[in-house]
Amino acid sequence: MKFTDSPVVELQSSPNFRALAPPLPTTTGTNNPYSELLDFHSLRLRAIELGTGCGASGMPFILLGLHDIILTDISPVMPALKRNKPVLGKNLKNSVLYWNKEDQIRAANPPFDLVIAADVVYIEESVGHLVGAMEALVADDEAVLLGYQLRSPEADKLFWEMCENVFVIDKVPNQDLHPDYAYETDVYVFRKKNSD
Ligand SMILES: C[S@@+](CC[C@H](N)C(=O)[O-])C[C@H]1O[C@@H](n2cnc3c(N)ncnc32)[C@H](O)[C@@H]1O
Repeated sequence: MKFTDSPVVELQSSPNFRALAPPLPTTTGTNNPYSELLDFHSLRLRAIELGTGCGASGMPFILLGLHDIILTDISPVMPALKRNKPVLGKNLKNSVLYWNKEDQIRAANPPFDLVIAADVVYIEESVGHLVGAMEALVADDEAVLLGYQLRSPEADKLFWEMCENVFVIDKVPNQDLHPDYAYETDVYVFRKKNSD
């Protein structure tokens, strides 16, 4: 099957679009440990998403106030992403970025304050490039926000081994996630080791 024959998820504009947002930690509550990370309104953050697909994981961040974000993926995915861009009625930035292409990573103009990735760990051969891209793109004292589901035991093993060498890994407790998503997906915050 060619990629173009694959089913394409089309997003629709809706007052409930926010419900499509990834399972972010809630920012309500005064002692919330994620309030700074997710404060997209008072901090002007530059962000990039890796493997954005049709945009369902990255585009809701714009609704949360994160306006300076580049959605990236491989070339064959761009038509599906571009088709969904008008849903938000915004001039979204998108870019072709293969995790193994250093020139594309450089052209994105790192470092970023936030690197977002959701459901991107499923091919063992690409795990090293993914971790390398995350490391190259995120600023030393900033964060990678990862939505994670186990897809491939081999890719999973390699991914966590590599990440432990590069990042300090913080798993968001399930009880801090939105209850509708808390047991489908895990959320992790990575920060580079030696960034202090
Ligand atoms: C399972 S989809 C997840 C899409 C989206 N993040 C979501 O959660 O709906 C994984 C995405 O990673 C992208 N991807 C896989 N390998 C890649 C690579 N080597 N470089 C860039 N993107 C890649 C795929 O094209 C695909 O869009």
